[in-house]
Amino acid sequence: MAFIKLENVKKIYNSGEIKVNALQDTCFEVEEGEMVIILGPSGTGKSTLLNVLGGIDTVTSGSIFVEGKDITKYSEKQLIKYRRNDVGFVFQDYNLLENLTAYENVQMSIDLKKQKGDILEILKKVGLEKRINHYPAQLSGGEKQRVAIARAFIKNPKLLLCDEPTRSIRL
Ligand SMILES: Nc1ncnc2c1ncn2[C@@H]1O[C@H](COP(=O)(O)OP(=O)(O)OP(=O)(O)O)[C@@H](O)[C@H]1O
Ligand SMILES: [Mg+2]
Repeated sequence: MAFIKLENVKKIYNSGEIKVNALQDTCFEVEEGEMVIILGPSGTGKSTLLNVLGGIDTVTSGSIFVEGKDITKYSEKQLIKYRRNDVGFVFQDYNLLENLTAYENVQMSIDLKKQKGDILEILKKVGLEKRINHYPAQLSGGEKQRVAIARAFIKNPKLLLCDEPTRSIRL
């Protein structure tokens, strides 16, 4: 059994007059332990795909099986649990909480799971040991992105979804 299986996934955005077919009959499988890279021009549905796979957005039709369970059939409560326990997400626009420091943003992700983790160690790994008490507004784009990476990785999630995770990072 594939770890992830998408079957004819469609996502249509209806914003007013304009209908956007962001995903059209998308099908693929990912095995456990596999790393997959999705490439495509801007506006072709990469973020949409990651959002529906991460249970952040809903599909218009089709199925998404994760470990054999169709997450498109999940209730809001089941989705919250799935997002919290199984998914780590590095968002294209970081999505850090503005009123929490770098340390607290990372801490939040494991606190929600009631999991233990070495927050300082992971922030050190992404080169932010000198920025732990900074708020997102006090960080550069690349630094914010590195907090977002630390926040996703510390959970050691079953499924790690990274949306252009190094876009703002130039070393
Ligand atoms: N909330 C929304 N409402 C209406 N249309 C949307 C919405 N979100 C995305 N779209 C449209 O759906 C299409 C796919 O968007 P998406 O963000 O998935 O693209 P992308 O491949 O991630 O692009 P990029 O490389 O620029 O990040 C685009 O044409 C976009 O304009
Ligand atoms: Mg995108």
